[in-house]
Amino acid sequence: RSKNTAASIQNQKRNGDKISMLTAYDYSTAKLMDEAGVNCILVGDSLGMVMLGYENTLSVTMEDMIHHTAAVARGCKYAFVVADLPFMSYQTSVYDAVVNAGRLVKEGNAHAVKLEGGKEVCPQIKAIVDAKIPLISHLGMTPQSINSFGGFKVQGKDEAAAIKLIDDAKAVEAAGATAVVLECVPAELSKIITKKLSIPTIGIGAGKYCDGQVLVYQDMLGIYSDFTPKFVQKYADLGSEMKSAFKKYICEIKDSTFPGLEHSYKIDEAVIDKLIS
Ligand code: KIV
Ligand code: NA
Repeated sequence: RSKNTAASIQNQKRNGDKISMLTAYDYSTAKLMDEAGVNCILVGDSLGMVMLGYENTLSVTMEDMIHHTAAVARGCKYAFVVADLPFMSYQTSVYDAVVNAGRLVKEGNAHAVKLEGGKEVCPQIKAIVDAKIPLISHLGMTPQSINSFGGFKVQGKDEAAAIKLIDDAKAVEAAGATAVVLECVPAELSKIITKKLSIPTIGIGAGKYCDGQVLVYQDMLGIYSDFTPKFVQKYADLGSEMKSAFKKYICEIKDSTFPGLEHSYKIDEAVIDKLIS
């Protein structure tokens, strides 16, 4: 195996080799995914919801992102590690965008950063790419715009919205993006965008025509129960497995079957005899 890089991921599109991406937020999970052979690991600002229990991603800070990105990076040998720029870390200015992208790389050891938005953030994209930091764009249902969208809703359904999405995708490619994440976009629209772009599209709720796919790992493992979008495929039901393991542990403590002799440390009997006498 060789390391996944911005260039290798772009080559995958050319070779018709689909790109796999999963989110991760900690060392142990990232290590399992890396060993399983995933191409990219995204330290998403979805961590605000699935790891920290916020209602949306808006409260996530740069410190949160750096803390979790560094943990993920320590677990990866081969995966391309992408970290999200959180809400208000890049919208405020081109300067803030470059400084904060730099922090994710220098302090978090990310290989690339991701930010949400099209034309309106192209100056930021260009400046980050000029600083030699690979950047992934995120279009369609962009969760940092939840208050402006009025909820988590499918984007690009009417003609004007579809044209805007295509224009945004072309604009971020021209600004230097390595790839584009398309979230909650009709499948036939992502097909058009995927054909028009020379950089890869990575879909989440965007159908099968994208050059790659990404899922939030708690969703695909059945661990996050607050809300499961239509686009999620559950590859395991670890939530119920975890709960039954927790229940079994509680029972075994109560009836003293855990810990057993095999979990206990020994001491010389002569020492015990002296202690008791
Ligand atoms: O934060 C996240 O997990 C994401 C993916 C859903 C693409 O941005
Ligand atoms: Na995100």
